[in-house]
Amino acid sequence: MSLSTAISRLESLARLSDHPGHLIRSFLSPSSRQAADLLLSWIRDLGLQTSHAPDGTLRGILPGSNPSAPPLLLGSHYDTVIDAGKYDGPLGILSALAALESLAQQNITLPFPVHVLAFSDEEGTRFQTTYLGSRSILAQLDEKTLAATDANGITLASALASEGWHHNASLIHYPPHSTRGYVELHIEQGRVLEQLNQPASTVSAIAGQTRLAITLAGHADHAGTTPMPLRRDALTGAAECILSAESLARSHPPAVITVGKIAVHPGASNSIPQRADFTIDLRHPEDNERHALTTELQERFLSITDQRNLTLDWNLVQESPATPCDPTLTSHLLNSLQAITGHHTSLVSGAGHDGVALAPAMPIAMLFIRCRDGLSHHPDEYASPEDIDTGIQILTHFLKSFTP
Ligand code: GLV
Ligand code: MN
Ligand code: MN
Repeated sequence: MSLSTAISRLESLARLSDHPGHLIRSFLSPSSRQAADLLLSWIRDLGLQTSHAPDGTLRGILPGSNPSAPPLLLGSHYDTVIDAGKYDGPLGILSALAALESLAQQNITLPFPVHVLAFSDEEGTRFQTTYLGSRSILAQLDEKTLAATDANGITLASALASEGWHHNASLIHYPPHSTRGYVELHIEQGRVLEQLNQPASTVSAIAGQTRLAITLAGHADHAGTTPMPLRRDALTGAAECILSAESLARSHPPAVITVGKIAVHPGASNSIPQRADFTIDLRHPEDNERHALTTELQERFLSITDQRNLTLDWNLVQESPATPCDPTLTSHLLNSLQAITGHHTSLVSGAGHDGVALAPAMPIAMLFIRCRDGLSHHPDEYASPEDIDTGIQILTHFLKSFTP
């Protein structure tokens, strides 16, 4: 597959969206199914044996000369955030396919199988709970996750039962320690490589994150007749909480806290808001710091809601620990990075990746590719064809030289 094929495939996937005005492919949506069908056809074209799991996670198997040897896993996710760019996720799948094609063109047969995985949901856009695809291949979708609901009140369990991929589906499952590891190529989603003037790096660790669903409840009343001191306005309470979260993160770098979603009930210009639901995404590279900040945040919210006579519902949706990449697998990848680019750089990832879910069961490593202005989760997300080509070359070199 030429570089131009990989790029044109990125463009083809970017045209598959749940919304005509911007890119969004959420878990099990019609456009996500179209994207999966397209990916499966490309994986099949490469001669790989394809399969799909009920959650829509896809797999292609290149058996190599020893099909029963533990496989090496490559891949990324094909779901997106809302109003997304086209590189976050799909680039990792397409670059894995491009590297395997390059090996085929060189008539190289690897002494171990390679499995290319395309995860159905990493972002958690629909259920606010991340890494669904990668957790599914470890059989780790627990009761709490299956009970998560989307904006229409549909649980993950019932979405899987009614919208899942059941025709010809097979479970994709990896018991702990049954693989050689998981390697993912991804855009950096940050500015460091651009500042260093380097096209790529490995990753030393992925920052931990805590996701919360917060509900503040007060009392609805008439906007024209209720004097200010008598109000129990959930939205002004939420505003104070959100500003307090921002100042907490600002005073504790490198902590980051984001409120990316808020809904107000009843949501009318002439009614006092009775309820405000919002999300919190709190990240820090050190787990102890993240826990301490979460506790401090809860205390601040309790004090604000107390003063305003509101109730606070604090719901932990998901927590992932800071996750180191595997030093041995990463050093193999670093050798290939150095061989192709002359650089030997490793970065910490502030963004979450499927490797976080997979790390308890297998070694993980990641290759970051420079992206313009560090921009991601935005339609202007961009990585240059030259840097993508460099990434594919590093991955190809890594596969050729990987002797576990
Ligand atoms: C995934 O992109 C995340 O870091 O939220
Ligand atoms: Mn993302
Ligand atoms: Mn991603």
